[in-house]
Order: sequence, then C-alpha cells, then structure tokens
Amino acid sequence: MKWRAYEPDVLPLWVAEMDVQLAEPVADAVREALRLGDTGYPAGTVYADALSGFARDRWGWDLDVERTAIVPDVMLGIVEVLKLVTGPGDAVVVNSPVYTPFYQFVTHMDRRVIEAPLDAGGRLDPATLETAFTRAVEGGGRAAYLLCSPHNPTGTVHTADELAHAAELANARGVRVVADEIHAPVVLPGARHVPFLTVPGSGSGFSLMSASKAWNLAGLKAALAVAGSEAAADLAAMPEEVSHGPSHVGIIAHAAALRHATGWLDSLLEGLDENRKLLSGLLDKHLPGVRYRPGGGTFLAWLDCRALGLGDDPAAAFLERGRVALNSGPSFGTGGAGHVRLNLATSPEILEEAVRRMAGSV
Ligand SMILES: Cc1ncc(COP(=O)(O)O)c(C=O)c1O
Repeated sequence: MKWRAYEPDVLPLWVAEMDVQLAEPVADAVREALRLGDTGYPAGTVYADALSGFARDRWGWDLDVERTAIVPDVMLGIVEVLKLVTGPGDAVVVNSPVYTPFYQFVTHMDRRVIEAPLDAGGRLDPATLETAFTRAVEGGGRAAYLLCSPHNPTGTVHTADELAHAAELANARGVRVVADEIHAPVVLPGARHVPFLTVPGSGSGFSLMSASKAWNLAGLKAALAVAGSEAAADLAAMPEEVSHGPSHVGIIAHAAALRHATGWLDSLLEGLDENRKLLSGLLDKHLPGVRYRPGGGTFLAWLDCRALGLGDDPAAAFLERGRVALNSGPSFGTGGAGHVRLNLATSPEILEEAVRRMAGSV
C-alpha cells in the first residue's frame, strides 16, 4: 500500500509498513508451508505459544495461553473485544491524537468516541482520563478505554505507574481497558515496554498483540486477543467464527517471527534508533521550525509543523509542493492540527530525500 497509493514521483513515508527485507526465519517458515501444501485452516495455539515465549523473554510476562483468542488482525480484534464489553451507543475513550482507525472502527460499530487528549508532553493525563471516564459512564451505559501502548503517533512508551494509574481510574468507574499493544516489540534503546496486563488493577482488561508491525507482516493476517485474569469469561464469549478470520499461513509467519526472528528485531531496533537520530539532525539542519520529540517506541515520528505557516494540514502542502506523502495530523483527532506523522522505517537515503523535499515545500 505504501508504495502503490500515490503517483510514482511521490516519496511515501506514510502508512505503517517498513522498507525492510523479510526476516529469513519468517520467509523459511512460509516457504516450508507452501512446499508442504500446508495452506488450510488454522488449528491449535501455535501463535499464542510463540507469543508467550516472546513475552516471557522480552518483558518477563507469563502470559496465560488459556486466556487468548486468535483474531484476524488487531483492529478487527479490537472491534470484537469492544462488542464483548460495550453495546451500541456506548462510549469508548481514546487518547488523542491517536491512530486514525480508532475513530473509524469505533464509530462504524455504533459506539461513541470520547477523547482524553495526551498532555503537552505527550503523556497520559490522569485528570483528563478521569473526566473522560466519568463522562463515558454518565447515563448508565457501559464503557471501554482503548489504550494505545506504545502510543501511535507520538511513540510515547507508557510507564508502569502511568498504566497502573489509568487502570485504577478506569476500574473506579467500571470502564473496561482494551490495550492495543501492536507496537510493543518496537521499543527502542532507552525505553522499556510494560505489558498492560502485568500492571496492578489490569485484571478486567484485554490486550491485542501481533507480530504484524514489528516484523512487517500486515499482509499475512493474524493477531491475538489476550484477556486479563478476570476477563477470561468475557473472552470465552467471543464467537467461534472470529477465529476463522486469521490466515493459517499468517499464523505460521507470526509464530516464526516471535520464536526465531528476535535477532532480526534487535537489528531493526538499532536501525530505527539510528534513523530517529538522523531525522533529528536533518530537521535541525533543514527545517528548524519543526518540533520533533523522538518517542521511545514505534517507527513513527510525530512532527509539530505549526511554526511553518502551512495551516492545519501541512501534509497537504508537503504532498503537493514536495511530492512526499506523510500522514495528515488532523486525522489523528484533537491535537493533530498542524502536525504530520512520518514513517522512519526506511533507508537513511530516503529519509534525507524526504526532509529535503519537505524543506523545499516551505
Ligand atoms: C496502533 C495500531 N493498531 C492497529 C494497527 C493495525 O493493525 P492490524 O493491521 O493488525 O489491524 C496499526 C497499524 O499501523 C496501529 O498502528
């Protein structure tokens, strides 16, 4: 999608696909499945077993495979989990600015989005969360909190204390937490991901996890929903047909990534760390009006372009004048105006060319 959606002269640094070679262990596993003709329906807990091993090694988290369900992808998994804990017309709290499909999927399923904007430092704001949770249950409906951890687009890696506080505030009002942790493996040197379900008070919550972002497998559909210790019965009520959605070959690929491609992931993280330093330097040099506070997670950079005088949607000017495609800030909700999201997961050469084109558009 990244390289096909625009005209050939446009440099694409938008959708969260990475310009990387597929990890060899993943390619081997897929090739072997094709050689065997192993292309039928999925069965068993191979994906959950692989995630459990990865979670233990990376985060010291003993994830209970019994409390998992395979889902077609993270967004459809979120939709199915939200159906378990809310009804039509109920509220879903999100921390704007946030991943655009949070708004789209939630409103398409007839839930209301309530924004609890991040603070000026891009962090969760307890007072704002408390107000949003209170509003969400006003009138007696059920409510959920769709947490993005690490946060897309700012790259914020939430701390254990922040997460525990958010859980406490949600619990006090009966708001169910659904944590989208798709970017969890993409946490760069200097930061550490804390799985939501490991913090105190998270038992009634859920997590959605997938290898799709970290290993660039979005075209090989599969993801996992994980229930907290008190949410197992809810997850068990997920309709069986949801598990027919993920691709069997996708599951093979994701499991191989989690089991055998951690070295590849570590190299990726080193490269991304280099790229965020490179981007900071390039912006200082060519576009000093842009404010960039590198986040600890994701391969996305959230750029405050308000000082450039390009209006609410600088991505439009960068595309039109510079032929570089970035994500448009306003689509991320409140706090997005005057911003763009740039995808760092590319070569240093492309990153340099992108900043050069952006600078030429101002
Ligand atoms: C926070 C977040 N959630 C979900 C997704 C989409 O995941 P999937 O393709 O598994 O639905 C993305 C993709 O970039 C994302 O950034």
